[in-house]
Amino acid sequence: MIYLDTPEYFDLEVTVNGQRHKHRVPTHLRLLDFLRDTLDLTGAKETCGEGECGACTVFLDGQTVNSCLVLAVETHGSEIITIEGLSQGGTLSDLQQAFIDEHGVQCGYCTPGIVLSATQLLREEKHPTRERIRFELAGNICRCTGYQKIFSAVANAACKHREV
Ligand code: FES
Ligand code: FES
Repeated sequence: MIYLDTPEYFDLEVTVNGQRHKHRVPTHLRLLDFLRDTLDLTGAKETCGEGECGACTVFLDGQTVNSCLVLAVETHGSEIITIEGLSQGGTLSDLQQAFIDEHGVQCGYCTPGIVLSATQLLREEKHPTRERIRFELAGNICRCTGYQKIFSAVANAACKHREV
């Protein structure tokens, strides 16, 4: 069905990684494309483009979402945090550092999404079991690591009472 009165462009105002942005965007533009192509924040990746892999995960008003499934206009007035916004002053978050320490990264394509999903988990539960970690990261697909080092990175960050 075609809605002839749907506007083609929208004046979007959104906060991304603490910075306010105003852009006129096409109403059909996905949040993922807005972040990558308009703001040049390429941490969120596209793999499946249909909500299956988690590579495009970002925080939208404090909750993780698949940015390939969200229209940019839906985020009007919201706060978005991408992987680029997780470090402070160029210093990695402790969870990010744990991924390096535990060798939880290979090609790195899935890593931003997994780190953001794991960040949400550790904010909700400081000491998740390995089973819970596996469950919560089930929506993030990694084609390289075999997952064990990823789970170890999250478990060790939790174990060391690291802040995330
Ligand atoms: S690219 Fe968005 S879930 Fe796969
Ligand atoms: S490290 Fe390559 S897809 Fe996960």
